[in-house]
Amino acid sequence: TTAQIGVTGLAVMGRNLARNFARNGYAVALHNRTAARTHDLVAEFGEEGVFVPTETAKEFVAALERPRRLVVMVKAGDPTDAVIQEFAPLLEPGDMIIDGGNAHFADTRRRERELREQGIHFVGAGVSGGEEGALRGPSIMPGGSEESYAALGPMLEKISAKAEDGAPCVTHVGPDGAGHFVKMVHNGIEYADMQLIAEAYHLLRDVAGYSPAQIADIFRTWNTGRLDSYLIEITAEVLSHVDAATGKPFVDVVQDRAEQKGTGRWTVQIALDLGVPVSGIAEAVFARAVSGHAELREASRELAGPSARPLDDAAAAAFADQVEQALYASKIVSYTQGFQQIAAGSEEYGWDIDLGAVASIWRGGCIIRAAFLDRIRAAYDTRPDLPGLLSDGDFAREIGEAQDDWRAVLVQATRQGVPAPGFSAALAYYDALRSARLPAALTQGQRDFFGAHTYRRVDREGSFHTLWGGDRSEVEA
Ligand code: 6PG
Repeated sequence: TTAQIGVTGLAVMGRNLARNFARNGYAVALHNRTAARTHDLVAEFGEEGVFVPTETAKEFVAALERPRRLVVMVKAGDPTDAVIQEFAPLLEPGDMIIDGGNAHFADTRRRERELREQGIHFVGAGVSGGEEGALRGPSIMPGGSEESYAALGPMLEKISAKAEDGAPCVTHVGPDGAGHFVKMVHNGIEYADMQLIAEAYHLLRDVAGYSPAQIADIFRTWNTGRLDSYLIEITAEVLSHVDAATGKPFVDVVQDRAEQKGTGRWTVQIALDLGVPVSGIAEAVFARAVSGHAELREASRELAGPSARPLDDAAAAAFADQVEQALYASKIVSYTQGFQQIAAGSEEYGWDIDLGAVASIWRGGCIIRAAFLDRIRAAYDTRPDLPGLLSDGDFAREIGEAQDDWRAVLVQATRQGVPAPGFSAALAYYDALRSARLPAALTQGQRDFFGAHTYRRVDREGSFHTLWGGDRSEVEA
């Protein structure tokens, strides 16, 4: 049999993606560094569709119909380059290598350029949705040439998740690294969403005094409204889970040190380079870092804090409603920032990314899937040149309605000594955007004072410098 697509790298993501293709009627060639995995897959799931197991790179390539579609599902970084080096010499012009890992978009740009010289299409494709998504339908963010998308897109559309309106959660994001860039920002937003949810939980627990099980119920209620999302849903599951060994809430027996594989950190690093203020995502990355500094935290346990002021039942319930507002408003801000970063990346690299289409393919399959994304899609579809989500009338109105409660939550958090870096960074961003004048004018004055860095005036064109060390007259720079 000739296979229509091949998957090399059969760890859990690769295996499930291969099964997804097979379940959708495609003949799938299989390859893995150690052949045992390949045979295990066929033994276990062979009846799901047509699999063509192969043991060598040569056999694998020979099993594929042309142009060849070769999906690489190995660890991002050096292993990806090693696989490319192994297979590229065996391929012919027009063939496609699809990297479905969490690669850095700069690596994807380099690989695409190198392979293009050989006439091979390199498709850096972000794939989100974890193990279940890979098997039952992920959200897919492919970059690369138009030509490769023409040959690959229909298959990806078939295996991808479908949004509620039936639209496949995949689109040709843009050339070279565009797909992996968008996947990177997806993960940054994922970090921010998770952090905001964690802060809501922390406040409901330590300010309102609710138990994990009660908070799970609160999240379940929220999940029936505008916060309806996969992450809120699984949060309720995690919070209501009880540890079998101790009978305690599961969340109380897990060490409170968050780990990361790095995509959130990349998002912030790139945002710094692009000059995009993704403060919500940055606080989420830093919050994980703070949690990991066990020794410093241990050494700081005796630092003074406010005395607790327990809320009565009515006040706790009212506070929970306010936390919902704060969470929603902060979420609008982190998506505003994330989409701004995609717009900036698109501009910098000439990708011409359709922001509405990105929101559309995040509606299903991926970790940040949410009802909310349909509204973002609508906002960009109505106005593709929207300067930012907060300029959309509906989002502006909602955040305006939420802002009093949002502030009240932060007052409580501050008063009771519960950190809420995500909520407060988001509010600071909102207030900065709203401000008619920012103290940046003073910053400019300071820069001019110590470094003659010059400033612009509100009333005249040109750059100016004040002779601070002399008579303080102004000169045109
Ligand atoms: C996804 C996830 C996936 C992975 C995260 C975890 O979109 O399916 O984002 O890519 O689970 O990268 O990231 P951390 O280990 O950095 O939290």
